[in-house]
Amino acid sequence: MRCSILNLAFIASAAATKAHRAVYDNSTLQVETRSLDELHQAALAEGGVVTLWHGGDEATQQNFLKNAFETRFPGMTLNVTVDLSKYHDSNLDQQIADENVYVDSIILQTLHDYPRWKEQGVLLNYAPAGFEAIHGDFKDDDAAYMGLFIIAWGLTSNPNKTTVATPTEYTDFLDPAFKDKLVLTYPNDDDAVLFQFDLIVKQYGQEWFDGLLAQNPRWVRGTATPRTLLNAANSSYVATFTSSKSPAAQPGTAFPTEGEFVAWPQTGAILKDAPHPEGAKLLHNFILSTEHQSVRGWSVREDLPAPVGFSKIWEQEGTNVTAFGEWMSDRANVERMRFWFENLIGSAQGLSPLKDNL
Ligand SMILES: *[C@@H]1O[C@H](CO)[C@@H](O)[C@H](O)[C@H]1NC(C)=O
Ligand SMILES: *[C@@H]1O[C@H](CO)[C@@H](O)[C@H](O)[C@H]1NC(C)=O
Ligand SMILES: *[C@@H]1O[C@H](CO)[C@@H](O)[C@H](O)[C@H]1NC(C)=O
Ligand SMILES: *[C@@H]1O[C@H](CO)[C@@H](O)[C@H](O)[C@H]1NC(C)=O
Ligand SMILES: *[C@@H]1O[C@H](CO)[C@@H](O)[C@H](O)[C@H]1NC(C)=O
Repeated sequence: MRCSILNLAFIASAAATKAHRAVYDNSTLQVETRSLDELHQAALAEGGVVTLWHGGDEATQQNFLKNAFETRFPGMTLNVTVDLSKYHDSNLDQQIADENVYVDSIILQTLHDYPRWKEQGVLLNYAPAGFEAIHGDFKDDDAAYMGLFIIAWGLTSNPNKTTVATPTEYTDFLDPAFKDKLVLTYPNDDDAVLFQFDLIVKQYGQEWFDGLLAQNPRWVRGTATPRTLLNAANSSYVATFTSSKSPAAQPGTAFPTEGEFVAWPQTGAILKDAPHPEGAKLLHNFILSTEHQSVRGWSVREDLPAPVGFSKIWEQEGTNVTAFGEWMSDRANVERMRFWFENLIGSAQGLSPLKDNL
């Protein structure tokens, strides 16, 4: 049965009631003991495909993961679709309501969804190799979901287009030299950006935000779009603080130390009704493997070294890596914050960042 979005809420609550009636069965917890090569063979025998829905804001954003996975495991196809986490999650709810789950793995920034999906009994309790090494705050005890890698927002400018020093604090963006030259993601379109604005305004007060508005920033959809515009020789924009940054020394980038930066464990789960469970398991084991974690910047694993020049993310100065998950779980507060900013800057304009060619 295909349900319209209008009766989705009713169906979802009916599904929850149904799941609620069943006693939650943790005895299904599977702990992986096979090697990557054994999993590879099992995934090939199953059909050689894994369908992944990944949160993000550019269609090609996970091509590096697709290439790494398909190169490492010949014959496998990573059928990845990137979309905003806030749309992927409700589309998965639709599949669950329709009892037509065709996604194998889902990796999102909407951390509040996972405990709910676990409660509904739709996630596989599965501990990939390395599960025990994942930092305790990033994983569910029953292995229904877990942080797979870390994403963080940093400060970025293009030194080729400005003589102003790269900003190292949020207050540096109020430099009059940046008037008409800032490009920022709408906080009311992305909760991880909203959390950042919430932290900044709590620290520096509304005066900081008034000063930012006086700079006449360009607001865009998606967190990759500011970097695209900074890098374009034909755009006048030179700086942003709403794009991701890796823990590496890169010219024109910094993390604030007086201000707080936003970092969180991007969280993943395998669907209990996944059509390609072996493929999904191969993917999660691969992402958590030391070979892959070591090219991902900060690791979620406690047994790997911190990136050169940085601390492990849960010990890193300037951020609280568990704060975003807690903040996300209070949806009423998130909504109040979103509309506080929306009232001042207007609703997000433009096409989906997946479709806007920026
Ligand atoms: C089983 O799962 C439930 C629901 O997540 C949890 O509250 C409980 O602690 C788990 N029990 C065991 C024995 O792991
Ligand atoms: C690939 O993913 C898309 C989008 O999730 C899905 O519609 C399609 O069925 C998947 N293809 C295969 C071969 O599983
Ligand atoms: C700045 O210019 C140099 C030399 O052309 C180039 O290698 C580098 O990628 C540019 N940096 C940015 C951020 O555009
Ligand atoms: C700017 O350059 C990019 C390629 O770097 C191009 O796609 C875009 O159309 C150009 N924009 C304008 C306004 O000329
Ligand atoms: C980090 O955030 C968590 C969750 O909000 C909170 O419980 C904890 O006290 C914070 N840690 C520090 C050092 O502020």
